[in-house]
Amino acid sequence: MKKTFGFLFATALVTVASYNANAQASTDEIPADMNALMQKYTCIACHRPNQRLVGPAYKDVAKKNYTNEKIVELIYNPVPSNWPGYPPMAPMKQVPKEDALKLATWINSLDGTPGGGAKKPAAKKPATKKS
Ligand code: HEC
Repeated sequence: MKKTFGFLFATALVTVASYNANAQASTDEIPADMNALMQKYTCIACHRPNQRLVGPAYKDVAKKNYTNEKIVELIYNPVPSNWPGYPPMAPMKQVPKEDALKLATWINSLDGTPGGGAKKPAAKKPATKKS
């Protein structure tokens, strides 16, 4: 039931955004609380933990070793040149900082661990400051 809703929701959003994405990508590996945020802020339409959709797989974002704070910044001000071959992500400034940080912490926890290794602490390497 919940899954069906998620699928329909994602499909609708992807259709609205008129991207030809594979909306059938599994949402199974998303923890319930993160799934709720992903639905609420529509990230689910374009992102999956382990799979490229419209946007990059979060595990590939995790591999970039951003700090959680840097990811929050990128949610508010995406840098499309970080992801050649993808359409640009719209700035998601409607996400409250607190929720953005929760998503960022989870995204970082996906680093190289299949199935979403939530146990692993987020990578804390200093972010490459470009600006
Ligand atoms: C309409 C599709 C879409 C939605 C909705 C969307 N994204 Fe993205 N996202 C993308 C695309 C495409 C990229 C790669 C291009 C870019 O960064 O602009 C991306 C990139 C990212 C990155 C990597 C940034 C970087 O520079 O490395 C993060 C983190 C991210 N998204 C998180 C989120 C979160 C969290 C949400 C929900 C609050 C969200 N996205 C909603 C499409 C989307």
